[in-house]
Amino acid sequence: MQRADAEQRIEELRETIRRHDFLYYVRDQPEISDAEYDRLFHELEDLEGRFPELVSEDSPTQRVAGQPLEGFPTIEHTAPMLSLESSQDEAVMRRFHERLKKALGGEPDFVIDPKFDGLSVELVYENGVLARASTRGDGRKGEGITANVRTIPSVPLRLRTGERPAPAMLAIRGEILITVDGFEKLNESLLAQGREPFANPRNAAAGSVRQLDPQLAASRPLELFAYDILASEPAELPGVESQWQVLEALREWGLRVSDLSRRVTGLDGILGYHADIEAKRDDLGYEIDGVVIKLSDLATRSDLGTTARHPRWAFAFKFPPRKETTRILKIIASVGRTGVVTPVAMMRPVEIGGVTVSRASLHNREEVARKDVREGDRVRIQRAGDVIPQVVERIDEPDRERGPAFRMPERCPSCDTELIERGPFTVCPNSFECPAQLAGRLTHFGSRHALDIEGLGDETAKLLVEHGLVRDLSQLFDLEAAELLPLEGFADKSANALVAAIAKASHAELPRFLYGLGIPEVGVAVAADLARHFGSFAAVQGASEEELQAVPGIGPRMAEQIRAFFDQEHNQKILARLLDGRVVVESREPATRSEPADLPLAGKKMVFTGTLEGYSRPEAKKLVEALGARVTGSVSTATDYVVVGADPGSKADKARELGVETLDEAGFRRLLEATTRAS
Ligand code: IVH
Repeated sequence: MQRADAEQRIEELRETIRRHDFLYYVRDQPEISDAEYDRLFHELEDLEGRFPELVSEDSPTQRVAGQPLEGFPTIEHTAPMLSLESSQDEAVMRRFHERLKKALGGEPDFVIDPKFDGLSVELVYENGVLARASTRGDGRKGEGITANVRTIPSVPLRLRTGERPAPAMLAIRGEILITVDGFEKLNESLLAQGREPFANPRNAAAGSVRQLDPQLAASRPLELFAYDILASEPAELPGVESQWQVLEALREWGLRVSDLSRRVTGLDGILGYHADIEAKRDDLGYEIDGVVIKLSDLATRSDLGTTARHPRWAFAFKFPPRKETTRILKIIASVGRTGVVTPVAMMRPVEIGGVTVSRASLHNREEVARKDVREGDRVRIQRAGDVIPQVVERIDEPDRERGPAFRMPERCPSCDTELIERGPFTVCPNSFECPAQLAGRLTHFGSRHALDIEGLGDETAKLLVEHGLVRDLSQLFDLEAAELLPLEGFADKSANALVAAIAKASHAELPRFLYGLGIPEVGVAVAADLARHFGSFAAVQGASEEELQAVPGIGPRMAEQIRAFFDQEHNQKILARLLDGRVVVESREPATRSEPADLPLAGKKMVFTGTLEGYSRPEAKKLVEALGARVTGSVSTATDYVVVGADPGSKADKARELGVETLDEAGFRRLLEATTRAS
């Protein structure tokens, strides 16, 4: 391809990819499949690889910078980043409202949005391109975290300008958050490495943003909500005269703006919104700690001005904190479905944000030692999102005599097998016979994202195992109502209901079934990917490690664990019993349209590298795809051919290293001729 053609195609691809990034990450409304997106992205990477002089800072391929930083530079803000007057006391909020009403001589119009519990940042766009990003710091200057902010997929590297032009300079203020899910996963992995977990999502977001290695920041699910324009050039932007128009403009420029923001008037409006958002708090997927009330009219705002620290036109009306103190009554060792023995603090019940909390995980023996909590201690606990509460810290009581330090039992509290240590974790190795593990597997199998069996909770699963009614997952489907009647808490109605719920679950959707099996590493998302890729349970079960790795997002370690699960004799036995008329797992068409098997290159995976004289890359791709092959961006042992043109990249080396067949242009032509004849 000529340089001029490449340049044009590169621009086209960037535009298209930016648009799909926006649709996917900001609007949550993707229009193309992941595979299609990957194809576009690889094509761009490839072209930029061939014409490195055409790579630009704002290209979608340049989100993650290569080199870890030495430190963060200090960056001065374009305008002071003030903090807000805040209170959870309704009376204080009423005074704020009263003051404004008096100053304006009437009911003010407000824009009100959630108060994101994250990290306040400034983003500066110069001529529409993200130039720098910084933390709030002391309000005048903060730390330059540009490289890390660039990795946040919902942050545009270049503003969208379809609906309104980008000003010469635009400084916006927003909040960086980590999702509650992301926070939990991050903590799980920190714990597995024997490292200290983050106390809450806010700290996890701050910690991620302050990683010196942007690769690490990129691996954390960060999100940015934009809510204010700090400064711009020109200072007055056409059509931006109110906070509501600020949000509109930010949205049009492609930034993520909360869709929970509302225009409200009067106290009732404020109180209604506050109550409404507090009720939604657990379902948002990220943490908020109140609502922010802002006078909408920008001109009136600047008339009102600021005090030394706060603007006079805004107020943070906070929710009651979700932290409480209580006392640990007992620390028990609880055996989960994977055999990991977790110390659990049983506490004097307290209400936190509307939920009564009486237990909290202490994760593992190292965490217990690190927090130094013992039975009888007074502790501060907190709840984030819809998650299990955490013990934040011990509250020192100098005058109280403390009990002995906690010690992990030496034998499994459920099956009395000797426990083993695996890193910071303590594990019961009796995977198949341990009643606690079996009960855990049953509960997981029936859980909401798995087979969703109503009535099969923790307690019931334990009872079924204790009474010997269920000795493996398959026996669940043999249960009869009469057998349940003697169990505590069961009567005719509940027994019949459980049996009916189990019968209903015997027609299972593939991703749910896969997830429910509790295969190591296979969470909801991976189960969905496997189902989409393979289409049937038999195909997943029979897939080799290499075939598993062909699924985007599944690496060698995960593939090995999945394979090991299916190779395990005990698991094979149970699966055979499950599938022997007890459960019917629905197959579905694999999403990557299966190539008609009679095409000559059906099922073949090809990779191109370097320039071909006789074919442009898209042409070559089209040709082989028409013959049934699939073109991928990277070489693995699953690749069938690597076509090597002039000036090839590292993919040619990789092919040789892995022993994958390579074709030069002549060889490629011969393959095409031979296969076209064949079809
Ligand atoms: S408006 C001039 N809106 O809460 C103040 N702030 O102490 C403009 N915050 O650090 C801020 N969510 O960064 C505004 N929807 C929101 C917010 C928000 C979170 C942060 C803000 C500040 C803190 C207030």
